[in-house]
Order: sequence, then C-alpha cells, then structure tokens
Amino acid sequence: MRISWSAAAVLPLAAMMVAGSVVAKDRAPGKGDQREAVMLNREEAQELLAGMRTYLETIQDIVSALADNKTARVPKIAARSGNKMLSGINPMTGLKAPVGFTMMSLDTHDKFDKLAEKAGRGASRTEVLTDLADILNNCSGCHAAYKLAR
Ligand code: HEC
Repeated sequence: MRISWSAAAVLPLAAMMVAGSVVAKDRAPGKGDQREAVMLNREEAQELLAGMRTYLETIQDIVSALADNKTARVPKIAARSGNKMLSGINPMTGLKAPVGFTMMSLDTHDKFDKLAEKAGRGASRTEVLTDLADILNNCSGCHAAYKLAR
C-alpha cells in the first residue's frame, strides 16, 4: 500500500507525538550551537543525508540550466527533489522528527514540485531564480535550526 505523505495527513499525528518527543535539545559544549538535535536511527539518518545530497545536486543542475539559458530543462530536474522522493521513506521517520522539521521538509519537496510545474508552463528565468532563492531559504533555515544527533 502506498502511504500518502501529504502534510494534512501527517500534521495531526505529528502534533500528537510532540508530547512524547524523542528530540533532545543539544547540550554539547560546542560554542553557541543552538541547533535542535534530531534523533534518527542510523538508517534514517543515512536516508536523510542521501536526500540532502540529491537536493544539492538538483540545485546545482537548475543553476547550470539557467546559466545555459535552458529553462526548459528545469521541470525534469526540479521534480527529482519533489514529493516523489518521499515515496520510499517510512512515514514514521517524519513522525519521529520535530513537527517544525517535518513541516519544513514537506514544504521544501512541495516547492520543488511547484517549481517543476511552473517551469513547465514556461516560467521565465527570473521567476525560476526567485523560486530557487525561496527554496534556498528553506535549506538555510532548516540547517540553522536543526542538526542530527550524534
Ligand atoms: C527539514 C530540514 C532540512 C531542509 C529543508 C534541508 N536540510 Fe539539508 N540537512 C538537514 C540536516 C538536519 C542535516 C544534517 C546537519 C548536521 O547534522 O550537522 C542536513 C545536511 C545537509 C547536507 C550534508 C549531506 C551529507 O551527506 O552530509 C547537504 C549537502 C544539505 N543538507 C543540503 C540541503 C539543501 C541543498 C537543501 C535545500 C534544497 C536542504 N539541505 C534542505 C536538514 C534540512
């Protein structure tokens, strides 16, 4: 059975899980590191990091396409980081993470799908760049707020 990863389906469950949260605020001596540590098991962490590398490659390929003035290539590239990336992921992983983290993750996949759609309808290079800036804002925002527990 395919489990849908829509935010609407995940949010109520995620909210219920906050009480018994498995998340620990980092108390490591590292100076000024206020990022919240996300507790995932090894396999889940590997999966997350592999997804991150896909994100980065997607961004790289979109920037290259724009540099070559080939906006038409963007839909296929952007879709690689869309919601289909979640199809092989156990929804429990999303429930173990802090709600804010999961929501930002879902929002980022959504933004890639929306960018793919928009570029497919003939968005200009500037419009694609604007959306890319918005997506990168999610990347930096999440990285500033969270880290994997070690
Ligand atoms: C929902 C939160 C979240 C979002 C959104 C997010 N990241 Fe990450 N990313 C993380 C976390 C957590 C780590 C691990 C950082 C740590 O433990 O220090 C990470 C690590 C990475 C790494 C290192 C991968 C490795 O193999 O070590 C790369 C590259 C990366 N992210 C790229 C991106 C890019 C590009 C985007 C945006 C398109 C993005 N990330 C969006 C949470 C996020």
